[in-house]
Amino acid sequence: MFKALVVTKDEDSGKTSAGVQEIAEDQLPAGDVTVAVEYSTMNYKDGLCIGPGGGLVRKYPHVPGIDFAGTVEASDDDRYKAGDKVVLTGWRVGEAHWGGYAQKARVKADWLVPLPDGLDTRQAMAVGTAGFTAMLAVMALEDHGLKAGDGPVLVTGAAGGVGSVATAILAHLGHEVAAVTGRPETAEYLKSLGASQIVPREEINETVKRPLEGETWAGCVDAVGGAMLARVLGQMKYGASVSAVGLAGGAGLPATVIPFLLRGVNLLGIDSVMQPYDNRLRAWRRIASDLPMDKLEAMVHPATLSDLPQLGADILKGQVKGRVVVDLNG
Ligand SMILES: NC(=O)c1ccc[n+]([C@@H]2O[C@H](COP(=O)([O-])OP(=O)(O)OC[C@H]3O[C@@H](n4cnc5c(N)ncnc54)[C@H](OP(=O)(O)O)[C@@H]3O)[C@@H](O)[C@H]2O)c1
Repeated sequence: MFKALVVTKDEDSGKTSAGVQEIAEDQLPAGDVTVAVEYSTMNYKDGLCIGPGGGLVRKYPHVPGIDFAGTVEASDDDRYKAGDKVVLTGWRVGEAHWGGYAQKARVKADWLVPLPDGLDTRQAMAVGTAGFTAMLAVMALEDHGLKAGDGPVLVTGAAGGVGSVATAILAHLGHEVAAVTGRPETAEYLKSLGASQIVPREEINETVKRPLEGETWAGCVDAVGGAMLARVLGQMKYGASVSAVGLAGGAGLPATVIPFLLRGVNLLGIDSVMQPYDNRLRAWRRIASDLPMDKLEAMVHPATLSDLPQLGADILKGQVKGRVVVDLNG
């Protein structure tokens, strides 16, 4: 028997509820590698899966947790053996498949990545899907020409998980980072991660009629979407790129094509879930080399399984700062 956060659904009312339960190993789903999970984390999607489901969860009872890191306990796949340290993000684990909010997980070997040199399992989950996605977003900007010295790079939703990690990586790489936040009280925190400028959310959330404004940003990691992304497109420098990561502010995009046509602005889609294996390895190696571990530690809030229902509700309200690290043995 082992501990897990289990979400159940009342068929009559349709309401879900989440609580810590003991479950048996033979209840685990099919898969070729069994992992003793050491750490997991909390992402926006986890908030949805702990709560009402957001259309992501296929069937109940369900174990959420879209990412985890731990040690292989048993493997039917040649690539992994007992004792190997591994990380998992994406592949709809924690949504369609039982996830990391349990002391054991059983998954497909294809979904795993060996823990990169230079990171332990706790640090890997301090990074988690949010940080992994932030690195994918930075790599996409670099692949489209961004280099240090090009000018300020904007990070939206900066005090959240994706935004905090993107801020720390970009600052470490020598970029001037402008951090957009709706929480003025996080200004010191964002500066400690390396932001040199704080942009109040309301300054950039307001819709303007003009499709183009002054050329301000050399790049952008956008965790917010919606009206803010539309506005930012019109503020990009000639030929600059925006990595579209999230929709914390809305899935719509009330924009014109003018920034693409007159300024050669690029809108780059970032998906962490189905990301090919080689690029996963590349991103994890870059995280180990380009994310300062003291900055990562400053983002961490420790948690245990029983804290997750409350934290899930908090993240849906945009009230979680930085990165939650869930200790499965805590
Ligand atoms: N593409 C992918 O593969 C991928 C992977 C991971 C996450 N995501 C998405 O990326 C987004 C961020 O994820 P996360 O884990 O970083 O979540 P998070 O920790 O909740 O951060 C989101 C941040 O966005 C800001 N925000 C929240 N509501 C807002 C609103 N109405 N208007 C403007 N800003 C708002 C807040 O930052 P401030 O308080 O600083 O303003 C909040 O902290 C989510 O939409 C998530 O689904 C996508």
